[in-house]
Amino acid sequence: MTYRIAPSILSADFARLGEELSHVIAAGCDWIHFDVMDNHYVPNLTFGPMICGALKPHAKTAGGVAVPIDVHLMVQPVDALASAFADAGADLISFHPDASGHVHRSIQAIKAKGCKVGLVFNPAEPLDVLDWVIDDIDLILIMSVNPGFGGQSFIDSALRKIEDVRRRITACGKDIRLEVDGGVKVDNIRRVADAGADTFVAGSAIFGQPDYKSVVDAMRLALGTAA
Ligand code: DX5
Ligand code: ZN
Repeated sequence: MTYRIAPSILSADFARLGEELSHVIAAGCDWIHFDVMDNHYVPNLTFGPMICGALKPHAKTAGGVAVPIDVHLMVQPVDALASAFADAGADLISFHPDASGHVHRSIQAIKAKGCKVGLVFNPAEPLDVLDWVIDDIDLILIMSVNPGFGGQSFIDSALRKIEDVRRRITACGKDIRLEVDGGVKVDNIRRVADAGADTFVAGSAIFGQPDYKSVVDAMRLALGTAA
C-alpha cells in the first residue's frame, strides 16, 4: 500500500502561503490539500482560483518535481469554479455530490479539463451515488469532520464508512485513491489506515507544530512507511 500525506493549507499562515508550501514540501508531504470554501455550501470563506494559480509555481520540490495540488471544493454550484481551478493548475479536483445538480456531468467536465476527479462525502452523507459513478472517478474523499473548519475532532463513524468505500473500490477493481479529511493526527492515522484509507489530509496536526517534518515523519512511522 502506498500512503500519501496531504497537508491542508487551511491551517497554514495565510500571510506566507508560498513559503509554507515550500516548508511542508521539504518536510516530505505528497500532495497539497487546498480547501475552497464559499460561505454558502459551508459557513466559511477561504481562497479561490487566483490564489491557487499564484501558488502553483511553489508546488514543487527543491529538485523541481511537481507536487500535486489536491483541490477540495466546498462550493455550490460546482462546475464554473471547478473549471477555473483546472485552469489555475489544480491536479485533482473533488466536489461534494450534494452540491452539484448533475453529478455525472460535473465529473465529466472536470475530466475533460485534464484533471483527476474525486467525490467527497460528509459524515452523514450516504455513499449511494457511488453505485452509478465509481467507474468514472479517481478519488473518494471521506469527511471525518463536518466541512467548514480546521481543528475539529475526528468523527468515529467515518471508520465504518472508509471500510465500506474500500470494499467498493476492491469490487470495482479500479485504481481509486481513498482519502480521509478531518481530525487526522499522529495518534489516530494508523486506525484510519487500518480501516482502508491510503491518503490522509492533515491541517492543524501539521501546521499547528513548529517542525512540520517531525509530524510527517511521525505519521509515516505510524503507517510503517518511515523513510
Ligand atoms: C475541513 C477541511 C479540512 C481541514 C482539516 O472542511 O476540508 O481539510 O482543513 O483540518 P484538520 O486536519 O485540522 O482537521
Ligand atoms: Zn479538505
